Amino acid sequence: MKLANRLSRVKPSATLAVNAKALELKNRGVDVISLAVGEPDFPTPPHIAEAAKKAIDEHFTRYTAVAGIPEIRAGICGYYQKVHGVSAKNENVIIGNGGKQCLYNLLLCLLNEGDDVLIPVPYWTSYPDMAALVGANPVFVPSSAENGYRISLGALDASLTPKTKLLLLNSPSNPSGVSYSQKELDTIIRWAMEKDIFIIADEVYEQLVYDEKYQSSASKLWEQYPDKIAILNAFSKSFAMTGWRLGFALAHKELITEMTKLQGQITSSICSISQKAGVTALTSSYDCILPMREAFKRRRDFAYAEISSWKNILCPKPEGAFYLFPDVSELFCEKYKNAQELCSYLLDEAKVAVMPGDAFGLPNCIRISYAVSDETLKKALTSIKKSLYD
Ligand SMILES: Cc1ncc(COP(=O)(O)O)c(C=O)c1O
Repeated sequence: MKLANRLSRVKPSATLAVNAKALELKNRGVDVISLAVGEPDFPTPPHIAEAAKKAIDEHFTRYTAVAGIPEIRAGICGYYQKVHGVSAKNENVIIGNGGKQCLYNLLLCLLNEGDDVLIPVPYWTSYPDMAALVGANPVFVPSSAENGYRISLGALDASLTPKTKLLLLNSPSNPSGVSYSQKELDTIIRWAMEKDIFIIADEVYEQLVYDEKYQSSASKLWEQYPDKIAILNAFSKSFAMTGWRLGFALAHKELITEMTKLQGQITSSICSISQKAGVTALTSSYDCILPMREAFKRRRDFAYAEISSWKNILCPKPEGAFYLFPDVSELFCEKYKNAQELCSYLLDEAKVAVMPGDAFGLPNCIRISYAVSDETLKKALTSIKKSLYD
């Protein structure tokens, strides 16, 4: 078949591939635990789900405005006012089919062929492929487990080129769990503003930060630099709503207008029922997030204490999201020479699926998700330890 050249710039999503392999083993009757998951293990809070049922009963089942019904756009503005003290108007907000679509739309609107995009390493697996799809060049900004995966201004400076247009900043990070404090974030943002570099701040995990010091948002500087910063966010992780496909972006009115134009041609409006659920999520109390955050914190503490006690593994302590990203290169040997082989070994021997770091730009690491029950996490880590050290 003669297919388009642009397809060669994209790899299949690595995270989905590992989950598929674990699922295949499960379907064959093998008792596999997946710590490769990228979504909360909690159900959507009932009051949010009820709003969707009501929308169906009331036949709210037609196309809506492309950028979202006014109530959901107002709800997002209300969220930013309440959580970050930021004043935005409906015209500054668009919803999309998950954070993923909003991000792709942002890149389509902001980047020209040949522009360079700064992507701190480790990165969320879709960033480089999305950048490449719109014809831009991903430029990777290095970090390491030794410095806790925090990017430095020195590393950013060294990665600059005359064609640098945009920085894709993810805090809290998938896969490392790094969350920048407001002070750290401000320093990076001011660096970018001085250099006239646009920032997309991916904050889809912003509600999952476990130490107050690291609760931060680029939106706090957005009012100062409205045409230089866009915030990406979603209901997916904060409200356990991955399947509802509801993401949003906060940006300059002109950018939102262009994103709406694109979305109107590509997907039209977002699921009307999901939007009603989203309105309820945003306009009710956010207390439903608390038990999920507490559970993730408890699991983070447990998994971090456990893994950092293992020999020859360097495991920085994550401040947010639901992943640990240890450097396991000291374990490489004849039996497993790299992270991919190590993950394959763990799937076969420990019956636990974890992600090789290659998918996130650091092949010396593995990503371990703790978005599973406490018991499952304990069982999986015991099994991994046994396979590696016994
Ligand atoms: C860092 C990051 N950004 C964006 C997304 C997209 O989220 P959504 O499911 O809302 O499309 C994800 C999902 O895994 C993510 O990890």
